[in-house]
Amino acid sequence: MEKKKVLVAGGSGYLGRYVADEFKKRGHWVRLLVRNPDKIRKPGEHGEPVLHDRVDDVVTGDATRPETIEGICDGIDVVFSSLGMTRPDFRHSSFDVDYMGNRRILDMALAGKAEKFIYVSVFNAEKMLDISNIQAHEQFAAELRKSGMDFTIVRPTGYFSDMEQFLNLARTGIMPILGDGDKRSNPIHAADLAQLCVDAVGKKATDIDAGGPDIFTYREVAELAAKVTGRHPLYLTIPLWIADALLPVAQLLSRDVADIVSFALAVSKIDSVAPQHGGHRLEDHFRECLSREG
Ligand SMILES: NC(=O)c1ccc[n+]([C@@H]2O[C@H](COP(=O)([O-])OP(=O)(O)OC[C@H]3O[C@@H](n4cnc5c(N)ncnc54)[C@H](OP(=O)(O)O)[C@@H]3O)[C@@H](O)[C@H]2O)c1
Repeated sequence: MEKKKVLVAGGSGYLGRYVADEFKKRGHWVRLLVRNPDKIRKPGEHGEPVLHDRVDDVVTGDATRPETIEGICDGIDVVFSSLGMTRPDFRHSSFDVDYMGNRRILDMALAGKAEKFIYVSVFNAEKMLDISNIQAHEQFAAELRKSGMDFTIVRPTGYFSDMEQFLNLARTGIMPILGDGDKRSNPIHAADLAQLCVDAVGKKATDIDAGGPDIFTYREVAELAAKVTGRHPLYLTIPLWIADALLPVAQLLSRDVADIVSFALAVSKIDSVAPQHGGHRLEDHFRECLSREG
């Protein structure tokens, strides 16, 4: 394939780092947008690759401050964005970051005549539109769809990085299970997802749903984490009606915390099984996490 000049927004994050690495493996020129360039000088907390000496250009900027990201799309052929607010920020809303931040980048990509924009939303988003973070993702996806730019929206299931919470819980000795824990999903490793994201450059597909190779119930992921850590945690079933009743309390505390609770509740109520891709196994990932920690 013809070599492209690529902007990776969210380039210091879990997925963005693997995507930048994959673009480099395939010989493309890569510019990263990061808020903190020190972050990419060492491996990420989930094993993400070191990038500072691997990519071609690093721009330090914050998508909520337009003056810091001016010109980031100059000379760029392809924009990939996994830029998003994934943990409570308490200053900005999902709308500010996931919608407005990506909107600013799209406007610059259009002005600079980039040829393709690849954006990462969330699998089953259409079933969770009452959650403000999901709304922001899909509001941006709708803008992208009508922008006239060639685009692909990738909608992944849960990432292996998020599944690491089960390891942490197993080690505390208490493993909360929301509802029956019987809803199924196929989480995906960012390295596998990165391949699909980079493949999207040469494809016409506008929407790609993606999950990993193995399908688990939530209880099975909890049991896998317990097995790998060698612990026998107490499985504490939290009835969904209790979790539902706690949601208004979380909403009073913070919109971002409420989003996290709402998301956990939503995925406890529906199966999230997307087309299966990749070869990374969750059990291997759990073992690698433990050996990384020593
Ligand atoms: N986690 C999951 O299971 C899952 C599942 C499906 C979809 N998704 C979506 O996939 C996307 C990527 O997830 P991830 O796990 O890779 O998230 P992540 O590790 O938190 O990465 C997010 C990236 O966005 C950057 N960012 C956040 N706010 C910014 C701002 N104002 N200006 C510039 N950069 C900013 C972060 O920079 P810093 O490094 O400085 O924080 C980071 O590089 C998210 O949109 C998420 O909602 C996640």
